[in-house]
Amino acid sequence: MKTIEHRDLLKLSEEYEEHFLIGAAVNTKTLISHQQLLKQHFNSITAENEMKFERLQPIEGQFQFEAADRMLEFAKQNNMGVRGHTLVWHNQTPAWIFEQRSGGIVDRATLLERMKTHIDTVVTRYKGNIYAWDVVNEAISDSGNELLRSSKWLDIAGEQFIAKAFEYAHAADPSALLFYNDYNESDAVKREKIYRLVKSLKEKDIPIHGIGMQSHWNLDHPAIDDIRRSIEQYASLGVTLDITEMDLSMFHFDDRRTDCSAPTEAMLEKQAERYDQIFKVFREYSKHITSVTFWGAADDYTWLDHFPVQNRKNWPFLFDALHQPKQSFWNIINNK
Ligand code: GLA
Repeated sequence: MKTIEHRDLLKLSEEYEEHFLIGAAVNTKTLISHQQLLKQHFNSITAENEMKFERLQPIEGQFQFEAADRMLEFAKQNNMGVRGHTLVWHNQTPAWIFEQRSGGIVDRATLLERMKTHIDTVVTRYKGNIYAWDVVNEAISDSGNELLRSSKWLDIAGEQFIAKAFEYAHAADPSALLFYNDYNESDAVKREKIYRLVKSLKEKDIPIHGIGMQSHWNLDHPAIDDIRRSIEQYASLGVTLDITEMDLSMFHFDDRRTDCSAPTEAMLEKQAERYDQIFKVFREYSKHITSVTFWGAADDYTWLDHFPVQNRKNWPFLFDALHQPKQSFWNIINNK
């Protein structure tokens, strides 16, 4: 058993210093409500929503940086890194960017010009203070043989929108690591598509440096072997990997149960075992991994509380709703 003193002094990010940064996604509320926990255990943060297109430039030319600036300030005061999330995505992007001022759909050149203005403005503002940007988020299709998902970016600008986004971001901050970020990254079919896309960008000398594995996982899925295979295949491209949005849901995606008001012992044990196995793999491949970011910090707040089942709570993190370490936390510390 750990002594009280040891518990108070122990810092997860220090325990993992030789491997990778330990990150948490934050919002303007958790930046306050979770500040002690963040200061103690994390050395990297990501804005859960505050750096998305719709938040930074809701109206053309009217940038709103206040919330994002506050996060940068918090990180600076506490000596933490910041991951930028995200520049180009099909969601949480305002309609104006795809529309002409006079109505109707915008032409390709104007759309790319607007993309460039957005990326220039945002990336330049935080130049030198953001170590990695998710430049393009979730551009790959989940279905069949189709490589790219249908989106307004793709419809209007063609598949080159991806390369353009990376070029604009690199020009604005040549020292930031630039990532392609996606979910279901450990699924065999999607893995192949992510690999193909990033390989083709590399072959064209597009400035892409990493693959973000979102890692929204659960108690059984994906299998450890699939996680390992993904890491190996992605790393074979010579890119850096970041675990960008990790959480371990207590429920399978299609489990629609609502009768669970607290995690059972069995769930907590299973979760602790999974965290243990997964972090073993992360440590094994740590020379390829820059940071492991959780999509939150403690079980009192997670986007999974209402998704995909309304009014159902979830407990996906290393820290419980009172910000106390769970068995999952002790496993990844003690079994190192
Ligand atoms: C995706 C996005 C994140 C976030 C989650 C759900 O993974 O990349 O920004 O919106 O969905 O919270």
